[in-house]
Amino acid sequence: MSIVVTGATGHLGRLVVEGLLAAGVPAGQVAAVVRNKEKAADLADRGVELRVADYNAPETLTGVFAAGDKVLLVSGSEVGRRVPQHRAVIDAARAAGVAHLVYTGVLGGPDADFDLAAEHKVTEQAVLDSGLPYTFLRNGWYHENYTEHLAPVLTHGAVVGSAGAAGRVGSAARADYAAAAVAVLTGEGHEGVAYELSGDVAWSFPEYAAEVAAQSGKPVTYRQVSPAEHLAVLTGAGIPEPVAAILVDVDAAIDRGLLAGGSGDLSRLIGRPTTPLADAVAAALKG
Ligand SMILES: NC(=O)c1ccc[n+]([C@@H]2O[C@H](COP(=O)([O-])OP(=O)(O)OC[C@H]3O[C@@H](n4cnc5c(N)ncnc54)[C@H](OP(=O)(O)O)[C@@H]3O)[C@@H](O)[C@H]2O)c1
Repeated sequence: MSIVVTGATGHLGRLVVEGLLAAGVPAGQVAAVVRNKEKAADLADRGVELRVADYNAPETLTGVFAAGDKVLLVSGSEVGRRVPQHRAVIDAARAAGVAHLVYTGVLGGPDADFDLAAEHKVTEQAVLDSGLPYTFLRNGWYHENYTEHLAPVLTHGAVVGSAGAAGRVGSAARADYAAAAVAVLTGEGHEGVAYELSGDVAWSFPEYAAEVAAQSGKPVTYRQVSPAEHLAVLTGAGIPEPVAAILVDVDAAIDRGLLAGGSGDLSRLIGRPTTPLADAVAAALKG
């Protein structure tokens, strides 16, 4: 029996693999599913088994899982292609007879009515249809979605968005979500459960701008623009139009309260408070 992590060379998957090792799971019982072995050479050096597969090529998933494995399916990053990708992983997991399939979905699950959630909803249903023992980790937003993009904020003195000033984001650090995955993969009693994961404290964009200003010592405010202006700003910054449209739609979802979270599931699962946004801002400013 192994604990198998897909997307293991991505930000979240790598944190999960490292978290499993730090939690004392023997490296020989941890397998990393990767597209590129070289990107995971350090994990192999530590004794983690590398299994090569591509979600886009179902034949590469044959034999990647074994009966009794616990599998974390980290959702893919190619928006629009993820339903067949995830189905291929689920089919391979079912064919192998894995003991537990854990999936990183999105906050709200079936009730999340924004564009980015659509593929997660279909995937969750496919997991349910597979009949496999499952856990859904419905992840809220990462702090890093914002703090990894501080350079233009500091240059222009503005956080630009189309969410209203009252819209709140219950984000947490990627490391918090990774710790939740480790808790589920190493713990008991999580089968058949959907966790709504979010940070303990939900913040508004004016509060975020004030935090960046306070820590950087530079004037930064929130500039709320219309959805059309927001789209123009994002595409003007070189973001492809379909991706920009998804980001504008996310801000509308924030206005509707869909990313505020508040269940407390994340801090309960990890046994500690979630990482404050201020810590992520500080880390990003340190560079
Ligand atoms: N909650 C949030 O705020 C938030 C934000 C962004 C994304 N997400 C979702 O959460 C996932 C994990 O986040 P992250 O920060 O770790 O993203 P990430 O760093 O982009 O990692 C994505 C991982 O998926 C792998 N992958 C992508 N396409 C694949 C394919 N066709 N076959 C096999 N593996 C494939 C990537 O492999 P390579 O290393 O080979 O590229 C990478 O390991 C994302 O993929 C996305 O679905 C959530």
